[in-house]
Amino acid sequence: MSKIPPNIIDEIMQTSRIEEVIGDFVNLKKKGANYMGLSPFTNEKTPSFSVSPAKQIFKCFSTGKGGTVVTFLMEKEHFSYPEALRWLANRYNIAVPEEREPTAEELAQQTEKDSLFIINEFAKNHFADNLWNHEEGKAVGLSYFHERGFRNDIIEKFQLGFSINVSDDLTQNALKKGYKLEFLEKVGLTKTKDDRHFDFFRGRVMFPIHSISGRVLGFGGRTLFTDKKVAKYFNSPESPVYNKSEILYGLFLAKNQIIKQDECFLCEGYTDVISMYQAGIENVVSSSGTSLTKEQVRLVKRYTQNLTILYDGDAAGIKASFRGIDLILEEGMNVKVVLFPDGEDPDSFSKKNSSSELEAYIKSHRQDFITFKSDILLGEGQNDPLKRAELVKEIVHSVGLIPDNITREIYVRQVAQQFDLSEQLINNELAKVRKAVIAKDLQEPEFRQLPNDVNATFQPTAPPTVPEIITEDEILFHREKDLIRVLLKFGAKELSIPTEDGKDSQNISVMEFVHQQLDGDEMNFEHPLFNRIYTLMSVGLAEDTFYESTYFLRMEDQEIVAFVSDIESEVVQISHNWLAKHNIMTKTELEGLHENVIQAVYHFKHFHVDRKLERLRKELTAENTSEENLLLLLAEINVLEQVKCALSGKIGRVILR
Ligand code: CTP
Ligand code: MN
Repeated sequence: MSKIPPNIIDEIMQTSRIEEVIGDFVNLKKKGANYMGLSPFTNEKTPSFSVSPAKQIFKCFSTGKGGTVVTFLMEKEHFSYPEALRWLANRYNIAVPEEREPTAEELAQQTEKDSLFIINEFAKNHFADNLWNHEEGKAVGLSYFHERGFRNDIIEKFQLGFSINVSDDLTQNALKKGYKLEFLEKVGLTKTKDDRHFDFFRGRVMFPIHSISGRVLGFGGRTLFTDKKVAKYFNSPESPVYNKSEILYGLFLAKNQIIKQDECFLCEGYTDVISMYQAGIENVVSSSGTSLTKEQVRLVKRYTQNLTILYDGDAAGIKASFRGIDLILEEGMNVKVVLFPDGEDPDSFSKKNSSSELEAYIKSHRQDFITFKSDILLGEGQNDPLKRAELVKEIVHSVGLIPDNITREIYVRQVAQQFDLSEQLINNELAKVRKAVIAKDLQEPEFRQLPNDVNATFQPTAPPTVPEIITEDEILFHREKDLIRVLLKFGAKELSIPTEDGKDSQNISVMEFVHQQLDGDEMNFEHPLFNRIYTLMSVGLAEDTFYESTYFLRMEDQEIVAFVSDIESEVVQISHNWLAKHNIMTKTELEGLHENVIQAVYHFKHFHVDRKLERLRKELTAENTSEENLLLLLAEINVLEQVKCALSGKIGRVILR
């Protein structure tokens, strides 16, 4: 089998849902943020197998196995790495290049879905060909896009097209090429009436709608007439390949930037997405043709926790944004809102303003949902007590939808401050909302089946015992793991480090800082596993990208995957009752980040200086050491002793771990 290209591996890992795949093998029950079940690797009676949908990893406490969905398939089905990936690609309809052309027989066996994808692909190419080469396409379609200010490279990137104003142009062309009528009808491109076949899209500019991996699922077609009787947009109907509520327009082009920026902009239409993208804001999607759904929000959640709604400031836009806010909060994500001036949308705004003005507008008008709702609902009625009371209830309702206790509490504080009310009062109101939310949750079947003593069942068994350290590798592992852990968890975080003259300070990332520190002393990780991870991170640093856990979790090197997923599952390992406590712990860890990083570096250096000293002393006592060499060794030992002493003095003010 041929090698799977890295972008396809990313695709597969981003699309796969570990809870779905493992759900086929293990009966999983929702337990807080995670799923629990009986380990498929042992015959256990009490569940100790945990799956984290948020982190996309699993941990089996009985066997210690853990990792990603790929690890699971390799363990459970004894697949090789590429076999596991291909199995997932097949399950999630992701095209993986084969090393050879399929045979005629294989072609004949193509599933219906494949045929529908192929038809859509053909239609997309036909519409694009019309746009660029057909007289009508050029005169009407292309000039329309140009008038709207779309650049050619952007038109190509979004694969825009044109359907000429002839009743069956596409249908006839497709049939001539041997495509089946049945499939044309199934994706909604052809309508049949009294044995005559018509194109669904005629005389419209065409916006293909893509899957996450860029396959065409359907189309939106905008009319160029201003006739109010014709719908502005026609959209492909739902089909076996097009499930509207689970698709976001533009996601396939946006996803990399969403991950990089750790934020996703959500706007209302096709043209908004394209204009924002053209203006250089590429992390943008829209829920075209439908109002926002839970599934679409979850789609974004795979890439980032931060969703910013960019809507038109008209009544419809405001209403839609209110709905969006609640949906997003319910998924445990952070939501911000940017309203454009009434009558403007991101598209029209970016036409009138430069890219930097658009960016500046978004930056300065980005509001958290509480401020946004208060501004809108309170309006002029700042001092109307009844209006204020209504508003507080309305906002507390949204807060109540947030699943995480700590986040809710933070918002309670904010609401109390903003409206000058006591937190107690807000909490009383919140309790009512929570009761309703929990009651609704309880109606979900998976919850009802849970035994009453569920908390007792899931307590972790004996605390992990400290392993007896024997081998060199194990020594290295235990002494080097703190620093690599800091890098994996906080490598991208910023530190403010004083400059040499001490007058100023400079912001650098934790990874950069550690790299400077180790490089300066010509130190490196010596444990082979950590050395591999650190080398990759250093390459990332040189290329100005920070490799996050997700990057490592996608690798073939299962030793890396297992280690990184163990670091990631620190939360998973802690029982439900401890979860809140642990969140607080990581929070304090973040607050003391600067000190923690420095301490981890000191510990690391101390250990390595010690090792070096040990080596030198051995050399000193070796029989064949020359006199000259002896002096050099002694000098070096002397220097290192001083370094060690200095480090010891600095260690211990804060103990990491
Ligand atoms: N929409 C739709 N059907 C309609 C109207 C709108 O499916 N009859 C969807 C389209 O996805 C559209 C989005 O809602 O992109 C937003 O609608 P609107 O703001 O009216 O369209 P724009 O995309 O802004 O189009 P234009 O700027 O060309 O008017
Ligand atoms: Mn518009």
